[in-house]
Amino acid sequence: MRIYLDHNATTPVRTEVVEAMTATLREGWGNPSSTHGEGAAARAAVERARGQVAALLGVAERAVWFTSGATEANNTALHGALAGSRGRHVVTSTVEHPSVDEPLRALEARGVTVTRVGVDGAGRVDPDAVAAALRDDTALVSVILANNETGVLQDAAKLAEIAHARGVPLHLDATQAIGKLPVDALALGADLLSGTAHKLNGPKGTGFLVDRSRPGLPAFVQGGPQERRRRGGTENTAGIVGLGLACALAQRELEARARHVSALRDRLWSGLQAYVPRVRRNGSAEHVLPNTLNVEFEGAAGDVLLDALDLEGVAVSAGAACHSGSIEPSAVLLAMGRTPEQARGSLRFSLGPGNSAAEIDRVLALLPALVARVREAVR
Ligand SMILES: Cc1ncc(COP(=O)(O)O)c(C=O)c1O
Repeated sequence: MRIYLDHNATTPVRTEVVEAMTATLREGWGNPSSTHGEGAAARAAVERARGQVAALLGVAERAVWFTSGATEANNTALHGALAGSRGRHVVTSTVEHPSVDEPLRALEARGVTVTRVGVDGAGRVDPDAVAAALRDDTALVSVILANNETGVLQDAAKLAEIAHARGVPLHLDATQAIGKLPVDALALGADLLSGTAHKLNGPKGTGFLVDRSRPGLPAFVQGGPQERRRRGGTENTAGIVGLGLACALAQRELEARARHVSALRDRLWSGLQAYVPRVRRNGSAEHVLPNTLNVEFEGAAGDVLLDALDLEGVAVSAGAACHSGSIEPSAVLLAMGRTPEQARGSLRFSLGPGNSAAEIDRVLALLPALVARVREAVR
């Protein structure tokens, strides 16, 4: 049996979700925009899912737009906020996911100015630095709530307070936090918030943007009346049903999941410290997702260690899986002040509710010898 410790890349789809999606594909295939019975049934399924997403995030149903995932939600938020504002300036951080960073680079090429506020050695943004970066023409503050590589959490409520004091909306890429921690968009002060189903045991290719801004963002994907003209294209009904159910399950199980994975994550970290010399944790141990542990194995090549673990049946990640295959050191770890060598020697372990203590112990039994071998090879 393989041991999957890469839940920040993606998660297994829950059986209940597969079943609900299959039933939708078989029987609920109507077009939600059609006014006949088949259409009405599909529409009802989409709206039920919207309610489930809204309930998990503590927002009104009308604030939720379905998208093809968090990448589209982030693009919609950034391009939309700029299109709907006279401001030509955005404040963000140096540890954003490419789905925020790349659209911002595209906007920069069109004359928008972007201030990227740095992080400290623990991966956290200093809210005072965000306050100092705000300008009269700032259209948006966009920050990753929980980092995909380190799991480090930002102080969203504080950032919202600072941004709102200057009349600037806050966008949170909450993709990694949803389903792992309570994410209450209102309490966090998020005007815009992105998420995706496949990080919380739902399907790939379905996500959402929460838009609490007034008057609301313009459409990014144009071409139809769907989603109240905010996002054109026939809805991915089965995916949306899967997303909704994944959110409902997450809401019910959130506390138990967090307790389970944080105990395993702590077991892993204690074991690594006890059995593997020269390991160092990357990122805050306090302000962090319950499931994520990013570790530097000093003097080891992370990609080689990853392959060695894979051969032993253990899946982990070096850097971000969304763009793995590259041996570039992690930009997130570099932004935290790590050297390229330290960044290349780092692995991300991201746990899920399906992992067990026996699996963690198996990984702890494997790692000392594997790390020693990989360290030996680079000498
Ligand atoms: C923080 C973060 N934002 C956005 C995304 C993109 O999500 P999606 O795969 O749904 O486009 C990911 C996924 O890797 C992520 O970790």
